[in-house]
Amino acid sequence: MKPQNIFDNETFFNSYRALREREDNLNVLLEQPAMAKRIPDLIGAAVLDIGCGYGHNCMDFVKRGAARVVGIDISEKMLAVASVESADDRIEYIRMDMSEIGGMNEKFDFIYSSLAFHYCEDFAAFTRDIASLLKPNGILLFSQEHPIITATVDGKGHFNKDENGNRISYTFSDYNRPGKRVITWFVDGVVKYHRPMGVLLTDIARAGLMIEEVCEPLPEEWAVELLPTVEKEYIKANFLIVKARKL
Ligand SMILES: C[S@@+](CC[C@H](N)C(=O)[O-])C[C@H]1O[C@@H](n2cnc3c(N)ncnc32)[C@H](O)[C@@H]1O
Repeated sequence: MKPQNIFDNETFFNSYRALREREDNLNVLLEQPAMAKRIPDLIGAAVLDIGCGYGHNCMDFVKRGAARVVGIDISEKMLAVASVESADDRIEYIRMDMSEIGGMNEKFDFIYSSLAFHYCEDFAAFTRDIASLLKPNGILLFSQEHPIITATVDGKGHFNKDENGNRISYTFSDYNRPGKRVITWFVDGVVKYHRPMGVLLTDIARAGLMIEEVCEPLPEEWAVELLPTVEKEYIKANFLIVKARKL
């Protein structure tokens, strides 16, 4: 099926950009610090960033010493920003759907992806492609929306509060019904794919990648100071991070 390219929708693009420019968004507070801690030594490395967006991580990889970075993304608008904000001779941006990476004629030491894998429909095939692009001992590091978030079919998982308005629990459903989810996020009709943890991790393992770490990030003290409500991560994780190595 043809993949959705929601980031090229004008309203979505502008709303997402505004969210990412806030200092207290969950990428800044939780996901990016947890990912940064798990990036391996990149001196001289060849790196692929899947769903690279504005290319900020591609720039980071160059600063960490990568010799070559390829950033792929389906969105023309995101790549247009990348080519201005994150340009470097060592970085090549390619407009490509992630389901097409199997056709790339190149091998990588490190494959990275921040918050894009929940847009992938066929994860089993995709992880096999990733394994085929990694050099022996190469590393995959990705984050995606946690399966608790992607589970509920109408996208309406919700916190339950006590009489003082404090969050005390979270209700979600459809966890063990993998598949397409069509939700409202800035605009109606945003397509994501839900996979329970067992399916996700098994697909990675069967692709020949050894899982080294699975992380559901919690906020550090500085993040709670900046945004006290981020304590809600103790009730329900927003992100899933997996680090795996090609055998
Ligand atoms: C939430 S954004 C994250 C961007 C970037 N990784 C970051 O951390 O700032 C997800 C990105 O995945 C891209 N994306 C979504 N579906 C895709 C697909 N099928 N193939 C390639 N990129 C895709 C979007 O265009 C968007 O740039």
